[in-house]
Amino acid sequence: MKKAKLILNDKEYEFPIIEGSESEKAIDITSLRNSTGHITLDPGYGNTGSCISDITFIDGEEGILRYRGYPIESLSKNALFSDVAYLLIYGKLNEDASDNITRDDFKKLIRKNANIHEDMKRFFDGFPLSAHPMAILSSMVTALSGFSPDPDATNLNSIDQNIAKLLARVKTIAAYSYRKSHGLPFIYPDINLSYVDNFLHMMFSDSQEEYHKNPIMTDALNLLLILHADHEQNCSTSTVRMAGSSHANLYATISSGISALWGPRHGGANQAVIEMLQMISNDGGDYKKYIDLAKDKTSDFRLMGFGHRVYKNYDPRASVIKKAAEKVLDALKLDDPLLDIARNLEEIALNDDYFVNRKLYPNVDFYSGIIYRAMGIPTNMFTVMFALGRLPGWLAHWREMILDPKSRINRPRQIYTGNTLKG
Ligand code: SDX
Repeated sequence: MKKAKLILNDKEYEFPIIEGSESEKAIDITSLRNSTGHITLDPGYGNTGSCISDITFIDGEEGILRYRGYPIESLSKNALFSDVAYLLIYGKLNEDASDNITRDDFKKLIRKNANIHEDMKRFFDGFPLSAHPMAILSSMVTALSGFSPDPDATNLNSIDQNIAKLLARVKTIAAYSYRKSHGLPFIYPDINLSYVDNFLHMMFSDSQEEYHKNPIMTDALNLLLILHADHEQNCSTSTVRMAGSSHANLYATISSGISALWGPRHGGANQAVIEMLQMISNDGGDYKKYIDLAKDKTSDFRLMGFGHRVYKNYDPRASVIKKAAEKVLDALKLDDPLLDIARNLEEIALNDDYFVNRKLYPNVDFYSGIIYRAMGIPTNMFTVMFALGRLPGWLAHWREMILDPKSRINRPRQIYTGNTLKG
């Protein structure tokens, strides 16, 4: 076992170095405070690993993203979202995992449990029409715990039942919040439809007609949900691990992830990108002015959808989404001036020293809103769409943590710089 040496006050300490399956290396400092009386300090956790995980691998320098070893480029082309959810949570693609629930059981549970309790429908009446859909989603997911027979489940079977039911119901809540905000009748889920088609049915069907599948919309949404499905220890997934480590129930834990995702530095960026592109369009399309503004340290304007803590290369998801956006607009015979502005911003930024030197590239949020717009999804629902995609990832990380016999409550330390003893 390789070791790292630390010399403090002329005393030498050794700490084991652990290496992951993709040769990532970490200094294991679990004994640091006990042996040295010191802690580490790393605001924003840019250098700190919170856990060991088998779920997702990112190489930020090379722009690589794999779920359980499968590249997202092939999954987004060849898999169904429900299969990718099973892969992330149970570790197997197109075959049954060893522990507990088969793929068929998983999919059947999701199809059979898409309804929410009828009493929950009344909750939507309590929200003002101006309520943000993320506020509705996080509240309703917490409320689901009140309707679950065993929200605090610790046995494997109940854990897996809750996981499937949550996956089934979150898309229903999302669709209902859209219908309610547009004064439309709720559309009940249809057990015969796939995850993606069921959501589109509940969102856009005319309550007096059969659901008419549009393969362009189905394929585009399937791709987007897969590309958003997991991203290792991002802010919202780390929040899920943090909240789940107190053994708060699954619903409360996922609701905390939804809230963390809402921020414009994180999942809220997809809404902020479209609002930024619209602002530039309304300002005569002068995108060069906004590139200069993004570089101006005296302005708090940022090029939304650009930059990433981990990717110091083009976000592989952005490449796939950019191509898909062009394909969807062509197929739907739509022309979106905001896509042209986005392309122009990208072209300038990728050749501008400010962005090049800071390794700022388009991230997952830069082009995704173009597709959501083309599908008729309102801008304020874009982050809800991100949450629908990310839900399997949150569930996978929560399950991995909750089933780990060594997992403890997460409780970081601090360095106190306030008043010393007074009075
Ligand atoms: C997601 O972590 C994940 O994996 C997240 C995610 C996932 O799938 O879960 O990938 C999803 O959240 C994607 C990111 C979406 N957010 C945005 O698009 C918002 C715009 N981007 C930034 O706010 C920023 O880039 C972050 C939040 C994404 C990353 O922030 P960091 O790593 O803390 O970087 P930083 O703020 O310290 O910036 C480093 C430098 C600074 O300049 P200097 O102080 O060196 O002069 O780069 C500059 C920043 O000012 N910078 C930007 C910029 N992003 C960083 N300048 C202009 N525009 C930007 N977008």
